Amino acid sequence: MSYKATYKTSLLQPENFWLQQANELSWYKKPSIGISKNTKDLHQWFEDGLLNMSYLCLDNHVNKGNGNDIALIYDSPLTNTIQKYSYYELTSLVSKFAGGLISQGIKKGDTVIIYMPMIPQSVIAMLACARIGAIHSVVFGGFAAHELALRIDDCQPKAIITATFGIEINKVILYQPLVEEAIKESTFKPPITILYKRTHDEPIILKEAIDYETLLNNSSHVEPIPLTSTDSLYILYTSGTTGKPKGVLRDIGSYATALKFSMTHIYNIHAGEVFFAASDLGWVVGHSFIVYGPLIQGSSTILYEGKPIKTPDSGAFWRIIQEHSVKTLFTAPTAIRAIKKEDPYGKCFYKYNTSSIQSIFLAGERCDPTTYQWIKTIFNKPVIDHWWQTESGWPMLGIMTGIEALAEKPGSAGLPICGYDIKVLDEDGNEVENGKIGLISVKLPLPPGCLTTLWNNDKGFVSSYLSLLPGYYTTGDEGYKDIDGYFFILGRVDDVINVAGHRLSTGEMEEIIASHDCIAECAVVGIQDELRGQRPIAFVVLKDFQIKTEMELEKELTKLIREKIGGIACFKNSIQVSRLPKTRSGKILRKTLRDIADHTLKNIPSTIEDCTVIDEIKEKLSERILK
Ligand code: COA
Ligand code: AMP
Repeated sequence: MSYKATYKTSLLQPENFWLQQANELSWYKKPSIGISKNTKDLHQWFEDGLLNMSYLCLDNHVNKGNGNDIALIYDSPLTNTIQKYSYYELTSLVSKFAGGLISQGIKKGDTVIIYMPMIPQSVIAMLACARIGAIHSVVFGGFAAHELALRIDDCQPKAIITATFGIEINKVILYQPLVEEAIKESTFKPPITILYKRTHDEPIILKEAIDYETLLNNSSHVEPIPLTSTDSLYILYTSGTTGKPKGVLRDIGSYATALKFSMTHIYNIHAGEVFFAASDLGWVVGHSFIVYGPLIQGSSTILYEGKPIKTPDSGAFWRIIQEHSVKTLFTAPTAIRAIKKEDPYGKCFYKYNTSSIQSIFLAGERCDPTTYQWIKTIFNKPVIDHWWQTESGWPMLGIMTGIEALAEKPGSAGLPICGYDIKVLDEDGNEVENGKIGLISVKLPLPPGCLTTLWNNDKGFVSSYLSLLPGYYTTGDEGYKDIDGYFFILGRVDDVINVAGHRLSTGEMEEIIASHDCIAECAVVGIQDELRGQRPIAFVVLKDFQIKTEMELEKELTKLIREKIGGIACFKNSIQVSRLPKTRSGKILRKTLRDIADHTLKNIPSTIEDCTVIDEIKEKLSERILK
């Protein structure tokens, strides 16, 4: 069937369509019910199905006689290691570690935070939780202690699983002090800490911690337990508009169905083939397409502990493709821009044989046409920008290469993926004409795989996503559709920014900056950044009688954001102004500030209280060189 016909069927007969897709999985009890509503009046999929994600990813392949196939390839230029785990080996490690978790009293429904670097032990921990029905929440290893503390308080984990350190280019990030500080800061104190020692001679700071390896070695294998499709697999926190991250909650059965469907029909990846998602386990891409998707499919997944550049050079991805015969690469445009900057003529690229590649998928931010053209010219293979978010869990727009290799359009995130009825709406919920910009919205009910609610916050789920335009899920992005039905995503309409593919909240940064003694008022906006897409800068108004110089204050605020969020925020600049542009009702005009900083301000909003502030800020910016 063509893409068009398949897509149409998915919208006209959603229940049949997805029950058929669910049939592709090995259930303990196949579902007979497609979509229904739970006791909280929220949609759910396959309520009468029983399955286990760890079984689907591991035992299922061993039972089918594919135990010797490679499941996981750990490639770490930062430690000079390449380690391969067969399905059989990974099953054995996961089932033992699951036994270890049970021995510590961790059981179905308990939450477990995993704060670890890009090492196999992190994947083992995720799959072990899934095996016993514990709900994991992986926290990105680049986050500061404060961010970890917020998550500890929200999901109140029975255990934290961590490692002694992570590695960045030219530096080691010690995790133990971060975990210690986070636990000090949080109100809830996790009863159990499990620590993986990456080497054998490291000082132990978390004195009460259980040793990961000892726990693994001393435990017995456990079988996966049958779970209801609607039970929760994980919580993944993502930035919203406030200082408190949102705990996106994912189910098991509909997520597994969507991932299996994605591997076959979007990425065109099958058992025995190699998939390389160059992301981090702490992000949704890591969950869906480093761990669960490829393993459900019986393919080999690459766990890469390195960067696109400087590990050791900008040929890092191309070496991996050659060395492991990668069929599909998934990365972020920012990574391609970083490679292009270091190797504009592809000298490093041409050193490697990358002929195994069938297509390259890009996501995390819009792929600008210049970056698209560069990578397309080098590879001469399909380069597919596809759009999704933590909440959806799997792509919403793209080219479904497993169904029909339709043409890409530079700058566009493609066509709607099966199951997603995507509309561009105005603020009253009316569909806008092709070519006109509006709010990108998805008609309810959402297809399988998407968030079911927010952790312990059904009200927040409804108010954040379902209330603005009744009958639709609000994505928070704006964009337009062209006459061929291709969508162009232009950016967020809220206070979320995207820094090197990392989703961050300017609202949270404002809260942190406002906590500084000198600050009376502030606004943080995301400005254009050649490498990272966006980066935050702050406009600050000082309290009266403050005598700090602009540079002194900038240094202190930079340190504060690093301490509270982490280096990944790439916060470097604060601009002192005497006042902020506001509407007559007192609302800060953040978009105007962003446009001034980006030199793209065309019209001064008619609602502005006093337009002289614009010239003042322009003059101020002209005096400053932004780092
Ligand atoms: N743990 C601790 N610190 C981390 C970290 C981690 N996991 N990841 C990044 N950081 C730190 C870096 O060390 C750096 O610190 P510094 O300012 O003290 O030097 C800071 O955060 C900024 O990091 P980063 O944005 O990674 O900058 P970079 O110059 O090291 O690398 C890129 C730039 C573009 C190569 C890198 O951002 C990248 O690979 N981006 C792609 C990300 C991605 O794939 N996202 C997709 C999600 S789907
Ligand atoms: P995250 O939840 O961290 O995956 O971030 C999701 C957000 O990143 C989306 O809401 C978009 O704003 C942005 N995004 C992700 N992929 C794309 C893409 N292909 N094109 C444009 N924006 C994207």
